Amino acid sequence: MTKVTKNNQVVAGLDIGTTKVACVIGVRAPEGINIVGVGVAPNQGMRQGTVVNIETTVEAIKKAREEAELMSGFSLESVWLGIGGTHIESFDSSGMVAIFNKEVSEEDIHRVIEAAKAVAIPTDRQVLHVLPQDYKIDGQEGISDPIGMSGVRLETSVHIITANAAAVQNAVKCTEKAGLQVKGLVLQQLASALSVISEDEKDLGCCVVDVGGGTCDMITFAQGSVVHTAVIPVGGNNFTHDVAMGLRTTQTSAESLKKKYGCAVAEMVTTDESIEVEAVGGRKPRTIPRRELCEVLEARAEETLQLIRGEIAEADLTTKLGSGVILTGGGSLLPGMMEMGDFVFDVPVRRGVPDRVGGLTDVVRCSSFATAVGLVQFGLEQEKLKSKHKPVEIARPATDDHAISHFAKKIKDYFSSVF
Ligand SMILES: Nc1ncnc2c1ncn2[C@@H]1O[C@H](COP(=O)(O)OP(=O)(O)OP(=O)(O)O)[C@@H](O)[C@H]1O
Ligand SMILES: [Mg+2]
Repeated sequence: MTKVTKNNQVVAGLDIGTTKVACVIGVRAPEGINIVGVGVAPNQGMRQGTVVNIETTVEAIKKAREEAELMSGFSLESVWLGIGGTHIESFDSSGMVAIFNKEVSEEDIHRVIEAAKAVAIPTDRQVLHVLPQDYKIDGQEGISDPIGMSGVRLETSVHIITANAAAVQNAVKCTEKAGLQVKGLVLQQLASALSVISEDEKDLGCCVVDVGGGTCDMITFAQGSVVHTAVIPVGGNNFTHDVAMGLRTTQTSAESLKKKYGCAVAEMVTTDESIEVEAVGGRKPRTIPRRELCEVLEARAEETLQLIRGEIAEADLTTKLGSGVILTGGGSLLPGMMEMGDFVFDVPVRRGVPDRVGGLTDVVRCSSFATAVGLVQFGLEQEKLKSKHKPVEIARPATDDHAISHFAKKIKDYFSSVF
C-alpha cells in the first residue's frame, strides 16, 4: 500500500455517527476531488455525538478504515474528524483592531479574529471554529475580503462554535486507538453543508439540516456566512422507535420496515397495500395496511420538522432563507420527507446529496455520506489555503483555547487600536 501522510493531495474524512462510522478517502484531481475509497461500519458506541462505548467505537472505526484503505489502495495515517451532537454550542462575537501601515494585511486579519475570539470560554469547552461573517473598515460594512484595502480601523463579527471538551477528547481517543492521527476537527453540519450546497445558495441564505440517527444538526448561512447552528435531539432512531412501539415489533424489524415501506406522508401511499409485521414474544406475524406504518412515521416527521422550523423562527432567520431548507443525512432518505418539508416550511425544500465530487460517485452520492465527503472537501480546501490567510479557524485536538491568554490579547489589541 502507498503511504499517504506526506502527500497533501490525499485526504481522509472520518464521520463517527450514532448509527455508523464512515471513512472516505479523496484525492485532488484537475477537475476537483475524486473519491477513491469508502468504508462504512455500523456503530453502537455513540449516542447523539457522545462516545458511550470506546471499544465498540474503536472497532467500528478500524473496520471502516480498513474497508476504505482496501478500496483505495492507500494506507491512512491521519484523518479530518467530524464533531457533532447535542454538546455543540455557538454564539456571535466581534473584534476591533488598528490597521498597521494603513493597509489591511493577513496579519491584521489574524489579529482582528484573535480579538473577536477573546471571550471567556468555560474550561470544559473547546473552540471548534471561529467563522468570520464580515469585516468593517472605518465603519464601512459588508466587506468580505478586506486584504489590501486602506483604512485605520478593522472590525469583524464572527460566529464561534464550541464543543464539550470531554466529548471531543473521547472522539479523538477512539480515532487514535484505531491507529489514526487527527489532522483537524470539523463541525459535522459544516462538513455536510460543504458537500451538499453551492456558494450561490450560501449567498442567498439557506438552512442545511443533517437528519442523522440520533440528532438533526442544523447550520444556517446568510450572505455567504454561517449565522446560526443548532442541534435538535431527535433523529431517525426516534422514527424507528415509534414504529417499534406503534406496531408492537422489534427495533430491527421496525428499522427494516421503515426503510422498505416507510413514507413520511401517509397519503402518498395507497390504501390497498398491506405489509407483514414481525411480532414479539413468539406471537404470529400480523398483516397490517402499509398506511398504518406511514401514519406513525408521518406524526414523527411532522413533529421533527416543526421543531426545526421553530428553531429557525426563534433565531429570526425565516426571512433570510432565500434558498430554502436542504435536508440531508440518512434520515432524509425516508420517502415523503421533502413533501412533509414543503408542508411545514414556508420556503422551498430539497434533498442534499454530495454531488460535487468525482470518482466513486455511485457509492457516495447518497445523503448518508454528506458529512464524510464534506470532511474530505474541507481537508483538501485547508491544504490549499495553508499558505494563504485562514478564513476558517481549525481546532486541533491538542489546542487549548485558554480564555485568560485571549483576554490578555484582547486588552492588548484594544490599547493598540486606541493609541
Ligand atoms: N432509506 C432510508 N429510509 C429511511 N430512513 C433511512 C434510510 N436510510 C437510512 N435511514 C435512517 O437514517 C438514520 C441514519 O442516518 P445517518 O447515517 O446520517 O446517521 P449517523 O450519521 O450515524 O447519526 P448522527 O448524525 O445522528 O450521529 C437511521 O435512523 C436510519 O434508519
Ligand atoms: Mg451523521
